[in-house]
Amino acid sequence: MEKKTVSLDTIVSLAKRRGFIYPGSEIYGGLAGTFDYGPLGVTLKKNIENLWWRQFVESRDDMYGIDAAILMNPKAWEASGHVSGFSDPLIECEKCKRRFRADHLDNPSTCPECGGKLGEARQFNMMFATKAGAAEDESATVYLRPETAGGIFVNFKNVVDSFHPKLPFGIAQIGKAFRNEIAPREFVFRVRELEQMEIEYFVRPGEWEASFEEWHGLMHAFAAELGIKKEDIHDLEVEGDDLAHYSKRTIDFEFDYPFGRKELWGLAYRTDFDLSAHQEHSGQKLEYLDDSTGEKFIPHVIEPSLGVGRTLLAVLLSAYHEDELGGETRAVLKLPAKIAPVKAMVSPLLKNKPELVGKAREVRALLQKVHPAIAWDDNGNIGKRYRRQDEIGTPFCITIDFDTLENGTVTLRDRDSGEQERLTVEEVAARIQAVI
Ligand code: GAP
Repeated sequence: MEKKTVSLDTIVSLAKRRGFIYPGSEIYGGLAGTFDYGPLGVTLKKNIENLWWRQFVESRDDMYGIDAAILMNPKAWEASGHVSGFSDPLIECEKCKRRFRADHLDNPSTCPECGGKLGEARQFNMMFATKAGAAEDESATVYLRPETAGGIFVNFKNVVDSFHPKLPFGIAQIGKAFRNEIAPREFVFRVRELEQMEIEYFVRPGEWEASFEEWHGLMHAFAAELGIKKEDIHDLEVEGDDLAHYSKRTIDFEFDYPFGRKELWGLAYRTDFDLSAHQEHSGQKLEYLDDSTGEKFIPHVIEPSLGVGRTLLAVLLSAYHEDELGGETRAVLKLPAKIAPVKAMVSPLLKNKPELVGKAREVRALLQKVHPAIAWDDNGNIGKRYRRQDEIGTPFCITIDFDTLENGTVTLRDRDSGEQERLTVEEVAARIQAVI
């Protein structure tokens, strides 16, 4: 029997134990809202990012990737409205002095921690400010970018001048963003240092609706590729005051996290708000010239925005299963092979038989020509080795035994079914190649 729901604690504990995600600065007691990715976590994260980059940037002719600076001229954030408006309502308890996000409280007058009286809510700007250079005065203030989108808009003119793209086209970026969240919580769901995969897809003003629909479909298809089940994702049409200041239409892709249905990704129609604002504040022309008609105008933009940490958490939650196999309960991550940090594990049946170890090393080297992430494990009995790989989502385990020495075949064990087959090394290589 499979357990369908998994608690956040189970995932947090597996992530720490098996080297996916650790609390940030842990030996100093941590730093709220920060996490460090361990060896398996960083690979899973990169695999998700690479899948996105390959699909939405490299394999498309209408897409341009950039990697802009995190520190930007502060005027860019004045133009975008972040200096004046990127804030959350902050409320402080008059008794225990704890601070909360007013819009997250059931009762905005009583402290949920100590029962004391809460003060008046005030707007708290979430941008992290720092100083650039040796000067200490206000003129040296710069911000860590709160969204990667900013770096895309300020490079619109550069990309147009270098590549002369025809509309519609997009500029994409993966990178860090920083938000001084009042209440970071729920593991990597709400953090202060986050990563985003964002696209600004520039269109003619009259074509935004068709493009919005297209990106809506592409985002759902990407979720399916990551192994996130359709029934766990829900579209929320964001209305009224909940819309960001730049958006005319936004759909939040919500995921059923163990702590409730919460935003995973966003898809926004940002109109020509950003380019117009940057044109006005920078004094640089950011219009697009249509060569065929001679028309000049500011393109409108559709923005698919994906948080990497929230994606990775949804992927882990979707992949985690507990089932019965061979009379034992096991924990298994049924990750799509494309993003699994380890693609296969090779092991000799017995580690004290040099002929088996030598052959297994040879098989591993051959399979590493298909993909380098082929692990080696010769610790404990075979059953234990399988369990360890199941828990980190390795799709295949390959065992080299005495028959291998006789006829060249190996045992291939499938992670999800636990079934074992005898195959040649070439057949195993083809099996791995077909799914990664
Ligand atoms: N450029 C648009 C933008 O940044 P957003 O809805 O504020 O829009 C986009 O953020 C995505 O970034 C979210 O859907 C989420 O995946 C992720 N995200 C935002 N704030 C986050 C935080 N504090 N911690 C983790 N992920 C966050």
